[in-house]
Formats: sequence, C-alpha cells, structure tokens
Amino acid sequence: MVFSEPRVGFGTWQNTDPEACAESVRTALEMGYRHIDTAQLYENEAYVGDGIERADVDREEITLGTKLWPGDLASDRVHDAVDESLERLGVDYLDILYVHWPAKDYDAVDTLGAFSELRDEGLIRHLGVSNFTPELLDEAQAACDAPIDVNQVELHPLLPQPDLLEYCRGHDIEVVAYSPLARGRVFEIPEITDIARENGLSEAQVAIAWLLSKDGVNPIPKASSEAHIRGNLEATDVELTAEELDRIDDINRELRIADRDWVDW
Ligand SMILES: NC(=O)c1ccc[n+]([C@@H]2O[C@H](COP(=O)([O-])OP(=O)(O)OC[C@H]3O[C@@H](n4cnc5c(N)ncnc54)[C@H](OP(=O)(O)O)[C@@H]3O)[C@@H](O)[C@H]2O)c1
Repeated sequence: MVFSEPRVGFGTWQNTDPEACAESVRTALEMGYRHIDTAQLYENEAYVGDGIERADVDREEITLGTKLWPGDLASDRVHDAVDESLERLGVDYLDILYVHWPAKDYDAVDTLGAFSELRDEGLIRHLGVSNFTPELLDEAQAACDAPIDVNQVELHPLLPQPDLLEYCRGHDIEVVAYSPLARGRVFEIPEITDIARENGLSEAQVAIAWLLSKDGVNPIPKASSEAHIRGNLEATDVELTAEELDRIDDINRELRIADRDWVDW
C-alpha cells in the first residue's frame, strides 16, 4: 500500500508564493492530510519542504511525491535531478518519484532503470508514472524490474476514465486523481450542484466523495484557503447513495483539461 488514510491528498500546483505555500502545506498536514503532491515543474518544492518542516507531523507519516519533467528523464540526469529535489524539499527520501509525462527524454528501459536503482538505494520508496495510458503502463511494467505502484492521471466527473481504472486495479497500480475538481468546472454541472444542494454539501465535496467511492483512487485537490482545505478533507466522511453515484456516472459530457501536445517541446 502506498497511501494511508485519509485518501484525500493535497495538490500544490500554482501554489508558488513561498509563505502561502508553506503555510497551506503545514495547515493541511496538521488538519490530517498525509499525502502531499508536488513536482519540479511547480517551482515550489522548497516551500513545500518548509511546510513539512513546520508541521507537527513526523516525516514517516507523510506520503510525499514529486515528479521529474521530460527533459530530466535520461538515466544520466535522473540521479542528479532527484538529489536536487531532495535538497529543495529538505528530506532524505521520496515516497513516490513520478515520470511527469512520457515525453522527450523518457525511455521506459533507461528512465525506469534509473528509478529502480534509486529505489534500491533507498532514495525513493515507490515508482510512479503520470499521464500513462494502459499501453504505456504495459511497456513500463515490461521494461522495469521494480513494480510501478502509482499512475497519476486527470480524473473527475467530466473525465471518469473507467477503462484505465479497471486496468490499474487489475495490475495493483494505485491511481492518484489530479484536477479532481476539474479546476472548478465541476461546480457548474447541474447533476453535481443538485446533489450538493440536496445534501447540504459543497460541489467540491460531492466530486471528491464520488472519486473516493472508486477503489484505489486517491484525489489530490489543490486549495489555498483554510476553509477549502478543510472542506475537501471532510469529503472523506461523505457517503453518496448508489443512486447519486449513478447520476454522476451518467453525466454524458467529456472534458480533458491537460493536453499532452504542450508537453512535447
Ligand atoms: N500529474 C500531472 O500532470 C498534474 C496535472 C495537473 C495537476 N496535478 C496535481 O493535481 C493537483 C490538483 O489539480 P489542479 O490544481 O489542476 O485542480 P483542482 O484541484 O481540480 O482545482 C483547484 C482549484 O479549485 C479551487 N478549490 C479547491 N477546493 C475548493 C473548494 N472546496 N471550493 C471551491 N473551490 C475550491 C482552488 O482554489 P483555491 O486555491 O483558491 O482554494 C483551485 O482554483 C495539482 O495541484 C497538482 O498537485 C498533476
């Protein structure tokens, strides 16, 4: 198992103000979050590290993940890039190291071979990938002697990805759901607003509770204010009825926010 309770984690993309970022991470951890997500790309690893340092929570209790950008995925660069992330984060190991996108210098054998060495050296606990399809997961698993434990993908009521979820469950790969609120777009969906109103919940809580109803899915909403951070965590106590879950499953509109075309430069 990669993740402990609660299954809601804390996303940090666009959280780039040093003090605000550190304080939001500290607040989240002291409120009960245990999974913190960052990336080299977010340019906030040092501030995330400050938040971890400030929080009255033991490092061993925290599941910390970061991601290497496609230009840092050649095996001769991976070790240095991870050393730099560890330095910025102020920690001596990562719980999850991700391939952020399978692009540019990504080569399954070369990149994941380097990840596997880092795991043997104790610098990372789990190998993660992000934005991987079942075909890319097949290739990654065949290329690497260490297990691929996590796939982080865009997942929300407008992009439910049932086939990918089934694949991951069948291969013991935990899913981290990014953009679980579709960056606010879920607040405009009538099925979600109706269920929120009927139950006295926020739309964010309905979307997160729907994700939590799916085995092996760990949503990581990003939030700034203490009220949003708390409200999102409280979604772990929400149990939607089968009828409500079906209503959300039946939403017949698709939206994919993250576009891989902008990664291939
Ligand atoms: N692997 C990848 O390629 C990838 C791509 C994108 C994202 N991610 C990860 O996934 C995390 C989450 O995704 P995201 O940041 O794209 O989008 P998101 O979590 O779907 O949405 C974040 C937005 O929702 C707002 N929000 C949060 N909680 C709210 C609430 N309870 N009520 C109202 N508004 C609320 C936030 O505003 P405030 O900040 O004002 O609270 C923010 O504007 C990222 O931070 C990052 O860690 C990974």
